[in-house]
Amino acid sequence: ISLKPCNSFGIDARARHFAKITSVAELQEALEWAQKAAMPTLVIGGGSNILLREDYNGLVIKNELLGYEVLGTDEDFVYVKVNAGEVWHRFVLHCLEHAYAGVENLALIPGCVGASPMQNIGAYGVEIRDVFHELTALHRYEGYQRTFTNEDCAFGYRESVFKHVYKDQFVITDVTYRLRKKPVYHIEYGAIRQELERQHVSELSIQAIARAVIHIRSSKLPDPAEIGNAGSFFKNPSVDPAKYESLKKEFPELVAYENEDGTVKLAAGWLIEHAGLKGYRKGDAGVHEKQALVLVNYGNATGSEILQVCDLVMDTVFKKYGVTLHPEVNIL
Ligand code: EPU
Repeated sequence: ISLKPCNSFGIDARARHFAKITSVAELQEALEWAQKAAMPTLVIGGGSNILLREDYNGLVIKNELLGYEVLGTDEDFVYVKVNAGEVWHRFVLHCLEHAYAGVENLALIPGCVGASPMQNIGAYGVEIRDVFHELTALHRYEGYQRTFTNEDCAFGYRESVFKHVYKDQFVITDVTYRLRKKPVYHIEYGAIRQELERQHVSELSIQAIARAVIHIRSSKLPDPAEIGNAGSFFKNPSVDPAKYESLKKEFPELVAYENEDGTVKLAAGWLIEHAGLKGYRKGDAGVHEKQALVLVNYGNATGSEILQVCDLVMDTVFKKYGVTLHPEVNIL
């Protein structure tokens, strides 16, 4: 079966077996079946943060656990439990409609709810960890369910325990978010402020912020329905202050942000663009023409063709700046 419709890169890799699951019981059944057959499993949601390098010789499980439930409220917060297969942006729209605040800056991020804690998705000054309460995950091999609190997830920049200690150990089945009844706005990010001004927004609201974010994202980021992509392909790399100073001397326009620990985070998109690779294309694989951090598939690129572009970008950036980029996308 072709996985082309199941990954936002639109790579035409095949899976040996494929199952859609709509309940935790079905998920358990599928995992047990694969274990008995000694077959590897790959669980996907939106498929928006993966690059399939080749065919998958195992069972691909598509997570279609759907539904929301309000677990409770207190003076300041409402706790909403969302099943992992729900589309993230639909959940954002649901929150806007019900006046639950906290996720408006995260509008239009592709993918499913279950992937949001996996890599602590973030945009425009907000990350999932800011609204995350807890999640439930099923152990892939031992079959038990476990709750992970915010602390248990050990969130970092595009990081959580699910990418390290517990890599490939658990399947996230639902996530509970803690949303504010009274919004706290995050508009420090320059692009948002400019967009709010441009739209002449005089009174802030979660709707206005979401509108601004949606406008910015759709003007810069390619729509996977038209051009295959997985959002930012690389993380923004951090360097020590000395390295930053020497780069800054050579490249005064360099865009960078200071981290809390004193290291400096560089805008990888800037590095790639100023290494001359924005809009680069070879066959159907390339670097997006409006946002150099995004690799794209114009139609029929294979996973390895995208990887060649990835390698070219990493080599070129390293040669020019002495900085190593790390992919953010999961390469399978
Ligand atoms: N820039 C360039 N050229 C480019 C791209 C960017 O010069 O081709 C410059 C921009 O002008 C800007 C700076 O680099 O001064 C940062 O760019 P931008 O604000 O677009 O954000 P980003 O660092 O490229 C990160 C996240 C995005 C998130 C945005 C907004 C990562 C890896 N990416 O991108 O998240 O939406 O900030 O907060 O952290 C994702 O993770 O998939 C993702 C899309």
